[in-house]
Amino acid sequence: MSVLVEGRAVAVPEGASAAAAMLLAGLIATRESAVSGAPRGPLCLMGVCFDCLAEIDGVPNRQACMVPVAPGMRILRQRGAREALR
Ligand code: FES
Repeated sequence: MSVLVEGRAVAVPEGASAAAAMLLAGLIATRESAVSGAPRGPLCLMGVCFDCLAEIDGVPNRQACMVPVAPGMRILRQRGAREALR
Protein backbone atom coordinates (compact mmCIF):
# COMPACT_ATOMS: atom_id res chain seq x y z
CA MET A 1 0.00 0.00 0.00
CA SER A 2 1.04 3.62 -0.32
CA VAL A 3 1.42 6.16 2.50
CA LEU A 4 2.76 9.71 2.52
CA VAL A 5 5.93 10.34 4.52
CA GLU A 6 6.84 14.03 4.67
CA GLY A 7 4.58 14.44 1.64
CA ARG A 8 6.31 11.77 -0.42
CA ALA A 9 4.53 8.56 -1.47
CA VAL A 10 6.18 5.44 -0.05
CA ALA A 11 5.21 1.84 -0.77
CA VAL A 12 4.98 -0.23 2.43
CA PRO A 13 3.87 -3.79 3.09
CA GLU A 14 0.52 -4.35 4.77
CA GLY A 15 0.95 -4.71 8.53
CA ALA A 16 4.03 -2.49 8.69
CA SER A 17 4.20 0.29 11.28
CA ALA A 18 4.33 4.00 10.58
CA ALA A 19 7.89 3.96 11.99
CA ALA A 20 8.85 1.30 9.44
CA ALA A 21 7.35 3.48 6.72
CA MET A 22 9.53 6.38 7.85
CA LEU A 23 12.62 4.17 7.79
CA LEU A 24 11.65 2.83 4.35
CA ALA A 25 11.40 6.46 3.22
CA GLY A 26 15.05 6.87 4.20
CA LEU A 27 14.49 8.92 7.35
CA ILE A 28 16.97 8.04 10.08
CA ALA A 29 16.04 10.98 12.31
CA THR A 30 12.27 10.88 12.57
CA ARG A 31 11.82 13.59 15.20
CA GLU A 32 13.64 16.38 17.01
CA SER A 33 13.85 16.41 20.79
CA ALA A 34 11.62 18.94 22.52
CA VAL A 35 14.45 20.43 24.61
CA SER A 36 17.57 20.63 22.44
CA GLY A 37 16.23 19.90 18.96
CA ALA A 38 18.63 16.96 18.71
CA PRO A 39 17.72 14.36 16.08
CA ARG A 40 16.10 11.15 17.29
CA GLY A 41 14.98 8.01 15.49
CA PRO A 42 13.13 4.77 16.22
CA LEU A 43 15.21 2.63 18.57
CA CYS A 44 13.21 -0.12 20.26
CA LEU A 45 10.36 -0.47 17.73
CA MET A 46 8.17 -1.89 20.50
CA GLY A 47 6.67 1.10 22.31
CA VAL A 48 9.25 1.60 25.05
CA CYS A 49 11.66 4.42 24.11
CA PHE A 50 9.29 7.06 22.64
CA ASP A 51 12.01 8.07 20.16
CA CYS A 52 9.64 7.46 17.25
CA LEU A 53 7.10 10.20 18.05
CA ALA A 54 5.50 11.48 14.88
CA GLU A 55 2.51 13.38 13.57
CA ILE A 56 0.18 10.86 11.98
CA ASP A 57 -2.92 11.99 10.11
CA GLY A 58 -2.74 15.36 11.84
CA VAL A 59 -2.34 13.97 15.36
CA PRO A 60 1.03 14.80 16.96
CA ASN A 61 2.98 12.81 19.55
CA ARG A 62 2.01 9.34 18.33
CA GLN A 63 4.36 6.43 18.80
CA ALA A 64 4.93 5.58 15.15
CA CYS A 65 6.18 2.09 15.95
CA MET A 66 2.83 1.19 17.50
CA VAL A 67 0.63 2.48 14.67
CA PRO A 68 -0.05 0.15 11.73
CA VAL A 69 -0.07 1.84 8.34
CA ALA A 70 -3.30 2.45 6.46
CA PRO A 71 -3.71 3.44 2.81
CA GLY A 72 -3.10 7.16 2.33
CA MET A 73 -1.84 7.68 5.88
CA ARG A 74 0.02 10.99 6.27
CA ILE A 75 3.15 10.76 8.42
CA LEU A 76 5.27 13.75 9.40
CA ARG A 77 8.31 14.12 11.63
CA GLN A 78 7.59 15.43 15.13
CA ARG A 79 9.44 18.72 15.38
CA GLY A 80 10.03 19.80 18.98
CA ALA A 81 7.23 19.69 21.51
CA ARG A 82 3.66 19.46 20.35
CA GLU A 83 1.48 22.50 20.82
CA ALA A 84 -0.65 22.64 23.96
CA LEU A 85 -4.34 22.02 23.46
CA ARG A 86 -6.40 25.18 23.43
S1 FES B 1 10.74 3.10 18.56
FE1 FES B 1 10.73 3.02 20.70
S2 FES B 1 8.73 3.60 21.25
FE2 FES B 1 8.72 3.54 19.11
